Amino acid sequence: PAPGWAIEAEVVVVGSGVAGLTAALRCAAAGLDTVVVTKARLDDGSTRWAQGGIAAALGDGDTPEQHLDDSLVAGAGLCDEAAVRALVTEGPDAVRRLIATGAQFDTDPSSGEIELTREGGHHRRRIAHAGGDATGAEISRALVHAVRDQGLRTIENALVLDLLTDADGRTAGITLHVMGEGQHDGVGAVHAPTVVLATGGMGQIFSATTNPAVSTGDGVALALRAGAEVSDIEFVQFHPTVLFLGADSEGQQPLVSEAVRGEGAHLVDAAGTRFMVGQHELAELAPRDIVAKGIMRRMQEQGAAHMFLDARHFGAQMWEQRFPTILAACRAHGFDPVTQPIPVAPAAHYASGGVRTDLHGRTTVPGLYACGEVACTGVHGANRLASNSLLEGLVFAERIAADIAARRPWPTVAPAVPQEPSLLPLIAPEQRAEIQRTMSHGAGVLRSAESLAAAAAALEAVYANAAQDREGSGKTAEPGVESWETSNLLCVARVLTAAALEREETRGCHWREDRPERDDTEWRCHLVVRLAPDRR
Ligand code: SIN
Repeated sequence: PAPGWAIEAEVVVVGSGVAGLTAALRCAAAGLDTVVVTKARLDDGSTRWAQGGIAAALGDGDTPEQHLDDSLVAGAGLCDEAAVRALVTEGPDAVRRLIATGAQFDTDPSSGEIELTREGGHHRRRIAHAGGDATGAEISRALVHAVRDQGLRTIENALVLDLLTDADGRTAGITLHVMGEGQHDGVGAVHAPTVVLATGGMGQIFSATTNPAVSTGDGVALALRAGAEVSDIEFVQFHPTVLFLGADSEGQQPLVSEAVRGEGAHLVDAAGTRFMVGQHELAELAPRDIVAKGIMRRMQEQGAAHMFLDARHFGAQMWEQRFPTILAACRAHGFDPVTQPIPVAPAAHYASGGVRTDLHGRTTVPGLYACGEVACTGVHGANRLASNSLLEGLVFAERIAADIAARRPWPTVAPAVPQEPSLLPLIAPEQRAEIQRTMSHGAGVLRSAESLAAAAAALEAVYANAAQDREGSGKTAEPGVESWETSNLLCVARVLTAAALEREETRGCHWREDRPERDDTEWRCHLVVRLAPDRR
């Protein structure tokens, strides 16, 4: 749609989680005229929901090298070692700068040092946490406060639509749809030579996810339409333990942090048997793909809809002090972890892949950067190590701000007029639940050529029907936030399913039941997707 209004900036940051707000604060500190746009309120993204914490080699005896080793193992042969090295070596100081920005982490009362816990795949205690199990909420609070305190320009309730480019294909800003923000209402534009995509994840392409409602893959879809490269999109991490609320429970599910297992909780079946013992040297604290698979296998063997997490031995005091958020969520749903094992099952959690970037966060479109979950920097490979994501957002946001500042002055760019209309048909919001169910059944924790082909066919049918309606009767879905989001969900789901079908092996969080082995001769490589101009 044609923008009805436009504003100017040097940098527009899209998204307001740890990646977006850190990028915005650092850009502003470098004197860049910066605007933040975000789909809901500033603190409505995934960051606020992060429980366990942020991983960094902060503890006595820990080193970036050991953090690197654990990250590479989790990534199952597909990490970019230089990116991981940047993450783990710059991580500790980035956390200290976050503390200087105002975030308060839990400390050991006797030493005053930051208290560190363990999570899956970490051989050491290296996860800093806040408010017990409310780390993301504290980080979000501190960053939002800093953004407001420093008077950064922000536009809330703004769904990003498309990238604007100039006649030479360089970034020239974005179009967006703003709901109820006074002078910036309806479809408008921010003109800027640099855009930082920090739109977060895509968990909502599945029926059950830990992600909030806003995580609809908007950034990846925008990047694909803009001709940027997307990589490793088949690697969706399923968190092993969300509270099981019933087989038909859809949307965001309550997370039960891995830190609960880090502090000694056991995974058991209905008979009380600890089924992860003997499957991996770290048992319940194995990397999360192994734990998710262990749970799914046991569920299949026993025909059960869920397994149990038993942490009764923590006692009421520890539950209340260390895990107040999870305790409250469990009790709100009628389960008391102090007195009973709680039902848990895996759900979609994190996109390890995304918009492909270099070590400075640059995508393949000049002037377009990507940061945080929307990006594929190479730090996660085929499976993200627990609590590396908040750290990635911090470290790479700082790298991006430094790169944008160092490359000043940016050339003056003007959006090419008229913009090419997208060739993709709009998808009606009524299709959303069908897309999500298709993905959970066909491209969920358990995948096979057969299930993926069925999912691909079902998604193609949704697309073909919408395209046929547009071409035939001229009928299209009503333009608006819900249909744009549903179109983004479908776009990402189709690309993800195609990549998962293509990768004929099991690796990291991509589990092909028909190809149960990892195949390093053929598949130690990245699948990179770029939509041809006639598919955008
Ligand atoms: C958790 O607390 O288990 C989630 C941490 C993460 O996904 O990194």
